[in-house]
Amino acid sequence: MKARVESVEDVKEALGQGRVFPTGMFKVFLGFLLLVVGLSVLGMYMARHTLAAAAPALFRPCLGDSSTSGSAEEELEGLERWTRPPPRVRHAMTDEELRWRASFAPRVRPYPFPRVPKVAFMFLTRGPLPLAPLWERFFRGNEGRYSIYVHALPSYRANFTSDSVFYQRQIVSKVADWGQMTLCDAERRLLANALLDISNEWFVLVSESCIPISGFNTTYEYFQNSRQSFVMAIDDPGPYGRGRYDYNMMPEVEFVQWRKGSQWFEVDRELAIQIIRDTRYYPKFNEFCRPHHCYVDEHYFHTMLSIEAPQSLANRSVTWVDWSRGGAHPATFGRGDITEEFLRRVQTKRTCLYNNRNTTTCFLFARKFAPSALEPLLVLAPTVLGYG
Ligand SMILES: *[C@@H]1O[C@H](CO)[C@@H](O)[C@H](O)[C@H]1NC(C)=O
Ligand SMILES: *[C@@H]1O[C@H](CO)[C@@H](O)[C@H](O)[C@H]1NC(C)=O
Ligand SMILES: *[C@@H]1O[C@H](CO)[C@@H](O)[C@H](O)[C@H]1NC(C)=O
Ligand SMILES: *[C@@H]1O[C@H](CO)[C@@H](O)[C@H](O)[C@H]1NC(C)=O
Repeated sequence: MKARVESVEDVKEALGQGRVFPTGMFKVFLGFLLLVVGLSVLGMYMARHTLAAAAPALFRPCLGDSSTSGSAEEELEGLERWTRPPPRVRHAMTDEELRWRASFAPRVRPYPFPRVPKVAFMFLTRGPLPLAPLWERFFRGNEGRYSIYVHALPSYRANFTSDSVFYQRQIVSKVADWGQMTLCDAERRLLANALLDISNEWFVLVSESCIPISGFNTTYEYFQNSRQSFVMAIDDPGPYGRGRYDYNMMPEVEFVQWRKGSQWFEVDRELAIQIIRDTRYYPKFNEFCRPHHCYVDEHYFHTMLSIEAPQSLANRSVTWVDWSRGGAHPATFGRGDITEEFLRRVQTKRTCLYNNRNTTTCFLFARKFAPSALEPLLVLAPTVLGYG
C-alpha cells in the first residue's frame, strides 16, 4: 500500500512540498488543516440536524396541498401490485417478452399475504366452446379458486356476455397447427399468460371437446393433495413411440430418455415455469420432431420433464379418452352415447396410483364430446358428475 502515510516526512513527500516548507512552518500548516477539517465536520453535523428539524416545516405545505386532492400516502404502491392478477388477459407483449416476464419466480416462502392457490384452466381451441354451459355450472360458486384462459384462432372473436366465466378471457393468440411446434407454442403462451397471476398454482390444458367429470372441489383437492403433476410420459417401444426418435436429438435427449404421452396435461407452477423457460430442448424438437414422422405435442414436454424432473411426474394424464375404436383420432361421443352408465364407467373403470396408493379416481376430465352431447350432459351433471 504505497499510499499509506507513515510519518510527517511521508506527509511532506506526499504533498510534494517537503523542500518548500521548513519543518516549523509545516507544523503550523498541519494544525490549521486539522482546524479546518474539524470545523467542516461540525458544520455538516449541525446542518444535518438542523435540516432534519426543519424538514417537517419545509414539507408540510406540500402535504397540505396534496391532501386536498388525495393523500400522498395513497400514491405509494403496496404489495398488491404483485399479488393481484393482471386486470386484463390481453396485453401488447411479444411471446419472447411474455415468457421473460412470466418466468419471474419468488424465492422467499411463505407468501407474505393470504394466497388462495388457484387452478388455471387453459382452453386450447380453434373457436367456439360449445360445451361452455356445462363448464359454467362446474365453476359456479367457486370464484377465487380458478382462472380461465382461452387460446383460439386470432381471427375468432368470442361473444360471451359479461356474466359468463369466459367473458374476456381470450388471450392474444396465433395460429396453431396440429402436430407442429406452433401447437406447443400455443400451450406455452397459455402457460405464460396464466403464470402472470401469482395465485395460479395448477395449470390444466383442456380443449373445446373436454368435460369435467367430477365436482369442482374434488378436482381442486385432487391437484392440491397430489405430490405429482399429471403428465403422461411413457416409454413406448413401438413405431409410434421410440420409432419417432431421431438420433440427432443427442446429446440433449438420449434414445432411452424419449417419452410419449397425451397432449392434455396438468402441471404445477414449478413445472409450468420449467416449460416456458426452456431453450435447451426446444430447438431439437423443433428441428427433429416434425409431421408426419413425429408429432411434437406428444413428445416435447413429456420427454423434457421426464429428464429434468422425473420425480414430479405421475406419468399419467387425468383426461380420459377412448382410443379403442382405432384410427388416428380418438372416439367422439354425441347425444346418443350419453347415459349414466357410460359416465360412471368413464369415472371409475380404471385403477391407478395416486400418491403411491391405488385408487379408482384416475380421471377428472374426459374427451371428446360433440356439441350434441351438451343437453344430456346438463341433465345428468347434478346426479352423476357432481355439479350443476
Ligand atoms: C354469439 O354468436 C353466435 C353466432 O355467431 C350466436 O349464435 C350466439 O347467439 C351469440 N351469443 C351471444 C351470447 O350473443
Ligand atoms: C368446496 O370447498 C369449499 C372450501 O373448502 C367449501 O366452502 C364448499 O362448501 C365446498 N363445496 C362443496 C359443494 O362441497
Ligand atoms: C415416472 O417416470 C419416471 C421416469 O421417467 C420415474 O422416475 C418416476 O418415478 C415415475 N413416477 C411415478 C409416480 O411412477
Ligand atoms: C395396486 O394394485 C395392484 C393390483 O391391481 C397391486 O399389484 C399393487 O401392489 C397395488 N399397489 C399398491 C401400492 O397398493
